[in-house]
Amino acid sequence: MGATMGAEVAVIGAGYVGLTTAACLSSLGHRVVCADVDQEKLDALQRGEATIREPGICELVVDGLASGRLRFVLGASAAAAAADIVILCVPTPMGASGAANLSTLESVVAEVRDLLPPGCVVVNKSTVPVGTAARVADLIDRPDVAVVSNPEFLREGFAVHDFLNPDRVVVGSADRDPVPARRVAELYDKLDTSVLVTDSASAEMIKYASNCYLATRLSFVNTVAELCEYLDASIDDVTTGMGYDERIGKSFLRPGPGWGGSCLPKDTFALLRTAESAGSDFALLRAAIETNVKQQELVVDKVRKAVGGDLAGVRIGLLGLTFKAGTDDLRDSPSLAIAALLAAEGAVLTGYDPSVHAPVAGVTDAVRIAGTAYHAANGAAAVVLLTEWPEFRALDWGRIADRLHGRSVIDTRNLLDPRTVARTGLAYQGIGRPDSVWAPVAPVAEMVTHAG
Ligand code: UDX
Ligand code: UDX
Repeated sequence: MGATMGAEVAVIGAGYVGLTTAACLSSLGHRVVCADVDQEKLDALQRGEATIREPGICELVVDGLASGRLRFVLGASAAAAAADIVILCVPTPMGASGAANLSTLESVVAEVRDLLPPGCVVVNKSTVPVGTAARVADLIDRPDVAVVSNPEFLREGFAVHDFLNPDRVVVGSADRDPVPARRVAELYDKLDTSVLVTDSASAEMIKYASNCYLATRLSFVNTVAELCEYLDASIDDVTTGMGYDERIGKSFLRPGPGWGGSCLPKDTFALLRTAESAGSDFALLRAAIETNVKQQELVVDKVRKAVGGDLAGVRIGLLGLTFKAGTDDLRDSPSLAIAALLAAEGAVLTGYDPSVHAPVAGVTDAVRIAGTAYHAANGAAAVVLLTEWPEFRALDWGRIADRLHGRSVIDTRNLLDPRTVARTGLAYQGIGRPDSVWAPVAPVAEMVTHAG
């Protein structure tokens, strides 16, 4: 079916990726049926309520429902039977070995295989190990159904923006068969972007290589930041200077408490396992993962030192629990990994996050949830800023100082202006920001006297 008419699309899975895909494709004029197994989620979506925190998603869902181009149904079978294109967006979590667990994907494929209309194209959008499109084609085993890989590059918090303004669309089909590749590429016809058609293994590899490169880059930056502390250099200046080099670029250079989220940790482990299975030792990627674990330990070292060497029974206030700002996602959050390490040494933790309003069993257990940043600071020996929520910059640090029992502020995102914090009498520490590079300089007269 041509792009001008819009395609009949089934999206299986209404999570971050599936819902974004369904809502955005319907906004581009396609008729989309989005399936999930979670009836409560479907009911909320049917009422026009967003089930994920993504700017713009709610409006797109409401518009899609109103136009009749977006529907939600229970179960993959109900969606797949009348589709030109079936897009798989079900979870592919990390299994015990670190490799991706494909059991959900495989059971969805088994469920729909006999229902797929002749000529239908099945699309893997979930991040899946190299070779999965070929495996799904084997499982479907129908000459009239093609399987294509079309990886997503959606950042949480920017998912709608990234879907509608992609840097590129990658479509991988077996032997680069242009016919199913073109049908998938046509879904994006209205977007001003480059479409790269590859074989399916290369498309799958592009997704892993991109996320693993980003993770490695961040581990590199975090290590440079650590060195800056020893060498009295400023990581802020260093990354600014690096970023001007167009070969390097300015983004993804911010140091932090380590990288997390639903993708980078699982994708790095998965590619490491894939490399092992292929008989190759991806030492650089292993080092990036180990460096990320070490980064969390370095933050804990800073906190321990700041409170005098022993965390047992010491109250610590945590600012930010999500893996980055702009999301309510706690999956593989470095904040929670650091909280667990602090709690293991006996620290008593109270945390505030603008998007976490209640404890999440089994996830935030180490942390008592406070209603404001000021409550998180109450009676604490130190405050540790872990997520770069912009509102933390606007906090009244004098008020925090009044509530703290100790004096330390540890800013793992280099979000705060050190001088603003220090002016309230608090002791500021960032990442790769040694005192020498930010501490208030002596008044000019004094400097002249010294120089003289
Ligand atoms: C998932 C994968 O984890 C990721 O690797 C991939 O790149 C995209 O798909 P995400 O959308 O963030 O990412 O997952 P999640 O938010 O957990 O949503 C998955 C949805 O699938 C959930 O709504 C879940 O109810 C649904 N689901 C799960 C099904 O519809 N069928 C199932 O059998 C299992
Ligand atoms: C990632 C990919 O960027 C996206 O293309 C898609 O494949 C899904 O996975 P996301 O998980 O939303 O997106 O997070 P991202 O914005 O990439 O950040 C990942 C982690 O790196 C976060 O913990 C974040 O805080 C950290 N980060 C990012 C930094 O520490 N410094 C930076 O400069 C950028």
